[in-house]
Amino acid sequence: MSAKNIDELIALCKRRGFIFQSSEIYGGTQGLYDYGPLGVELKNNIKNSWWKSTVYERDDVEGLDAAILTKQSVLKHSGHEDTFSDPLVDCKSCGERFRADQVPDYCKKEDLTEPRQFNLMFKTNVGPVDDGSSFAYLRPETAQQIFTNFKNVVDSTARNIPFGIAQIGKAFRNEITLKSFIFRVREFEQMELEFFVVPGTDEDWHKEWVESRLAWWENQGVSRESLELYDVPSDELAHYSKATVDIMYKFPHGVEELEGIANRTDFDLGSHSKDQKDLNIKSSVSENKESNAKLALKDPDNNWVVPFVIEPSAGVDRAVLAILNEAYNIEKIDDKERVVLKLKPHLSPIKAAVIPLKKNDEKIVSRAKNIKNKLQALGMGRVLFENSGNIGKNYRRHDEIGTPICITIDFDTLEDGTVTVRDRDTMHQKRVKESELEETFKKLF
Ligand code: GLY
Repeated sequence: MSAKNIDELIALCKRRGFIFQSSEIYGGTQGLYDYGPLGVELKNNIKNSWWKSTVYERDDVEGLDAAILTKQSVLKHSGHEDTFSDPLVDCKSCGERFRADQVPDYCKKEDLTEPRQFNLMFKTNVGPVDDGSSFAYLRPETAQQIFTNFKNVVDSTARNIPFGIAQIGKAFRNEITLKSFIFRVREFEQMELEFFVVPGTDEDWHKEWVESRLAWWENQGVSRESLELYDVPSDELAHYSKATVDIMYKFPHGVEELEGIANRTDFDLGSHSKDQKDLNIKSSVSENKESNAKLALKDPDNNWVVPFVIEPSAGVDRAVLAILNEAYNIEKIDDKERVVLKLKPHLSPIKAAVIPLKKNDEKIVSRAKNIKNKLQALGMGRVLFENSGNIGKNYRRHDEIGTPICITIDFDTLEDGTVTVRDRDTMHQKRVKESELEETFKKLF
């Protein structure tokens, strides 16, 4: 199941502390959101799952964490200064500005101005002088500093193609038309892999990465039935792309891109390289007189080759939205309803709640704290000592935030060393020996 509409998810996110409007106490800022106590856990779990599958479980990918503020030369030679723009129109009747392809029905065609290109990058001043002479861009994608570090990574790891560089981090776009909660925002987070391959093998690698990424989404609980593949037509391709396959998801507001997997050819490394004429670059690149590095490798015949790049690029915020939507369930129990987030346990913000049945019984409380500490020490993520509200309310709250199990400590625990373990999805309760609790817990992950 999934949410009926985006408002159900927004309400849950606010009520339970996943996501808040940024600067809300001052009226909020459009297109900016803050992740609350549960949101930060969910987001970290998604990022960790991506990093684990992209870096740790392969032996051909290295990680990177580059600066966000980006030198102008990088985004000049990447093509972003010239081409990373949207056509905008103004409506003379209502006074609003829209992307030319996203004008709402209520504006009449004859009231619209001719489209003008509007660059989406944010600029900021660097250093003490604020006269526009020294500025940097807030990166619009994490990809570019992967390309500029290509030689550093190759030289320091002795990698040869095929291999990849992965990065997770913030990116910024001055979007004019914001959309559907955290779907299209101005500050967002990306999980990007640039996978460098031998030219000629790029189309096979592209297919392989589409399959691999689909499998990852399914492992995060996004069912294959909710996903579609979209071959981006040539007139919609980004300036660097030879072919892009988008993984589309049925969001509550419609079917939209969740992740793009692009064949960026040798455009990026070729564009950022010195000595371009010697490198047999296949794509059309502008002359670069500023770079001091040759971003190429020698092939077995001692010829320079500029690797092609396959780029799976996923948005963390869109992942949060899709995963929450897929996990969202409303179940009828007798004449009541329960909201339950059936998150995969590795993504659950709280892995287990340990609940003393009697809040003011010192022995029960200290036993519960002890169990919490032991489970916490296993390093699976946050385990919560839950000492508020009654047990029914606690179960409902933890269903709603996706906690896989609740562990209740009662007087029998003091007598016979057993605890009650309640399963989120089945609501089934069973008595488990405290000595077997760690095994039961670890089996969830
Ligand atoms: N690096 C691809 C993108 O940001 O869309």
